[in-house]
Amino acid sequence: MWKGEDYTEQFSMEAYMRDFYSVENILHTESPKGKMRRFAMKTFHEIFEKNSGNYGDRLFSFGTGPGVLEIISASRYFPNISCSEFIADGRKEIVKWLEKDPNAFDWSPFIKHISKMEGNESKWEEREKQLRDAITAVIPCNCLDPTNMTEPNYLKPFDTLLTSGVLDCSCPDIATYRAQLKLLIRKYLKPGGHFIQLGPLEADSWIVNGKTFHALYMTKEDVYSAWENAGLKVEQFYFLKYGEEDKFSDANYKATFIGKGIKL
Ligand SMILES: C[S@@+](CC[C@H](N)C(=O)[O-])C[C@H]1O[C@@H](n2cnc3c(N)ncnc32)[C@H](O)[C@@H]1O
Repeated sequence: MWKGEDYTEQFSMEAYMRDFYSVENILHTESPKGKMRRFAMKTFHEIFEKNSGNYGDRLFSFGTGPGVLEIISASRYFPNISCSEFIADGRKEIVKWLEKDPNAFDWSPFIKHISKMEGNESKWEEREKQLRDAITAVIPCNCLDPTNMTEPNYLKPFDTLLTSGVLDCSCPDIATYRAQLKLLIRKYLKPGGHFIQLGPLEADSWIVNGKTFHALYMTKEDVYSAWENAGLKVEQFYFLKYGEEDKFSDANYKATFIGKGIKL
């Protein structure tokens, strides 16, 4: 099984994009992956919508991946979004999209889907521009670095920090998750700032391009406890539980959580 430090060599961004951002799968099927991504899009939308305008201007997406899916909703409220990704190929994919490269991934079906939730599907092109304009940086990050998790290593703390499916992929054990979450919150989130995390519960592996990668086995209690230890007050947790009929072909997630909290 491949671990956090193996991602640079073993992880195929191309396969991840094909399998995990498939428009057909995500928007048009009842597959577990479709359910998971739609739950994420809807929940991020609700989180930002509910407290509109009260999250500040600057958002940090830690481990954005090769795509912009997790920040579409946020871009309606944050004029300044910094993206980060461990793997160079992933950063390149975001830059390709920002530069309107003809070979860039087409995010428009997802932007339309979210614009519809926002009540303005016909204005999806304006939202696409708003998203492009909001992204001010795409930088390297490494959640396993014991001191500096980004390059440049000093960034002014942000108003909101969002991380989706990253700490669970990279942290080998709960002790590392607790330590790195604490560091992330201490360095990159200002007091009173909001933290949002998406992750799997009770999973121990996932597969990309036929290669099995470690997933951190976490219970709800592990997550709450790590958040408290990092100086966060839990505000809200959302869960999507997978039933017997929801077997992922490439992961063994029991549930997906999205948590939202405030740094005390
Ligand atoms: C499941 S993907 C999530 C990507 C994106 N946030 C999403 O929701 O689609 C896992 C991400 O973790 C990143 N990753 C792997 N090891 C990492 C590390 N040591 N530090 C930070 N990110 C890492 C991978 O490059 C990949 O983009």
